[in-house]
Amino acid sequence: MSKKIAVLVGSLRKGSYSKQIAKNLMKLFPNDYEPEFVEFGNLPLYSEDIDTPESVPAEYTEFRNKIQSADGVLFVTPEYNRSIPGGLKNAIDVGSRPYGASSWDKKPAAVVSVSPGAISGFGANHVLRQSLVFLNMPVLQQPEAYIGNVTNILDEDGNVAEGTVGFLQSIVDAYVDLLNRY
Ligand code: FNR
Repeated sequence: MSKKIAVLVGSLRKGSYSKQIAKNLMKLFPNDYEPEFVEFGNLPLYSEDIDTPESVPAEYTEFRNKIQSADGVLFVTPEYNRSIPGGLKNAIDVGSRPYGASSWDKKPAAVVSVSPGAISGFGANHVLRQSLVFLNMPVLQQPEAYIGNVTNILDEDGNVAEGTVGFLQSIVDAYVDLLNRY
C-alpha cells in the first residue's frame, strides 16, 4: 500500500523558495509514496476558547484529519527571526490538540530549512525540532538538511541545479528508511 506524506511548507508566499525546494524533494520519493501539500494558511489562530466540541472550526477538523491520515510529515520551512514562521507554529499547535489526541503523535518527520542566506535557516530547523520532540515524532537526524543560498541553486523554472539533486535525494532516501522502520 502506498504511503502518504503530508508536506508542510512554512512560507505562505506565492513565490516561496521553500515551496520550490519542497516540489523538488517531492519528485524524488519512490513511486509507492504519495507526498501531498497540506495547507494551513486558513487556520484561525489557535485558542482553547474556540476549540471546544461545540465550536471547533471546520478548518481545524479538516487539517487534523489530513495529518492523521498521513504516514509521515515533511517540513520545509524558511526562518523568520531565527525561528519558524508563526503560521507554521499555529498549525503545529492546532494539530496537537485536543489534549491527548494529537494528530502528530508517532508520525516520522523530516525537517528541511531553506534560506537565501548563508546560515541556511539553522535556527528555524532546530526550533522546529524542539516541538517535534515534545510531539513524540521520530525525526530524521542525518543527513541534516540546511539549504542555504537558495537563490543560487534554483533556476527560473524552480528546478534545483544538477549538483543539488543528489543531496536532496540523500535526504529523501534517509527519510524513506526512517519511514520504513515504523
Ligand atoms: C525573514 N528572512 C530571514 N532569513 C533568514 O535566513 N533568517 C531569518 O531569521 C529571517 N527572518 C525573516 C523574518 C521575516 C518576517 C521575513 C519575512 C523574512 C528572510 C527569508 O529567509 C526570505 O524572505 C525567504 O525568501 C523566505 O522564504 P520563502 O518565502 O522564499 O520560502
